[in-house]
Amino acid sequence: MTDSRIAKAPLGTDGPEVGVQGLGCMGMSWAYGPADAGQSRAALERALELGVTLYDTADMYGAGENEKFLSPFFKAHRDEVVIATKFAITTSPDDPTKRVIRNDPPYVRQSVEASLKRLDVDVIDLYYMHRRDVNVPIEETVGAMAELVREGKVKHLGLSEVTAGELRAARAVHPIAAVQSEWSLFSRDIEANVVPAAKELGVALVPYSPLGRGFLTGSFSNADTDLTDQDFRRTLPRFTGENAAANVALLEPVRSVAEAHGASPAQIALAWVQQQAAVQGLSVVPIPGTTKSSRVEENVAATRIVLTEAELALLEPIASKVAGDRYPDMRFASAGRE
Ligand SMILES: NC(=O)c1ccc[n+]([C@@H]2O[C@H](COP(=O)([O-])OP(=O)(O)OC[C@H]3O[C@@H](n4cnc5c(N)ncnc54)[C@H](OP(=O)(O)O)[C@@H]3O)[C@@H](O)[C@H]2O)c1
Repeated sequence: MTDSRIAKAPLGTDGPEVGVQGLGCMGMSWAYGPADAGQSRAALERALELGVTLYDTADMYGAGENEKFLSPFFKAHRDEVVIATKFAITTSPDDPTKRVIRNDPPYVRQSVEASLKRLDVDVIDLYYMHRRDVNVPIEETVGAMAELVREGKVKHLGLSEVTAGELRAARAVHPIAAVQSEWSLFSRDIEANVVPAAKELGVALVPYSPLGRGFLTGSFSNADTDLTDQDFRRTLPRFTGENAAANVALLEPVRSVAEAHGASPAQIALAWVQQQAAVQGLSVVPIPGTTKSSRVEENVAATRIVLTEAELALLEPIASKVAGDRYPDMRFASAGRE
């Protein structure tokens, strides 16, 4: 495994310079079953050594626990890391199992103060609206986020799972550094509208779940049987039941391209999404999630793989054949509102 650091690139026209691959930290505290804290800390340090600078969290990952977990790492390396966190997904005060999306300006302010406290830093480098509450005009939400920039609490703004129209309306209020949305060999719906809008506006794309939440790595084949009870993927239509069985068969071309490169399927999935920067002509910084140093090394090494036209053509049909949506309620994603 090479030790050389990954390349750097600007995160769109309004964002900071970052390593061309970031690190998703969600799984260190939440979503995919228990994680070993020591291993996760080692993974963070290894990522930094390899030139990863963009670290992704959110206030709702483990109800604040993920931000708290990351705080010592961020403080130890404050000048080397770009801290990205998010607000908007909360729970109902009456029913903690029910998700509520909030984009209202008082909530934006309350959330940033809470995140700054948990992270124990003076400023958040990239602050995202995590999900869209269609009852609040996006101009109001971004207006409140822009105030945080003026006050020095936040450096750059981002939006997650917004439609092209929402992105345009937001960009008219304040520069937007990045849109973070699901983008992988399994999830390509954003290519219809969001990617062209981001390209036109100079906004970077930060693909989340670029490994298809792990499915593209071949490390599990059915969430019902292969994953623990607490694993969030058991709620996602494409990883369970007959859909999962059908989707496993789609990994065959990924495996054959991987073999040709002496690489893993995970690396081919990451190389594909990274290569969308050249294919689509915009800034793309994927944030694969892992809790393990060895996988950080493997994932970072994928930034050096270049797929041929023939390989891209072989991988092209996969997404259109995927059985099952990416969320049980697709209004949670931009494609469900476009
Ligand atoms: N904006 C949003 O709404 C949103 C939604 C979801 C996620 N995110 C962000 O995006 C980040 C990444 O997405 P994600 O974690 O959902 O999915 P992902 O990156 O597609 O996949 C993560 C899964 O793959 C496994 N994995 C990672 N590298 C591997 C490798 N080389 N070989 C085999 N398995 C590997 C991880 O397990 P191990 O830990 O065991 O390696 C984990 O289970 C998150 O951490 C979060 O920060 C944002």
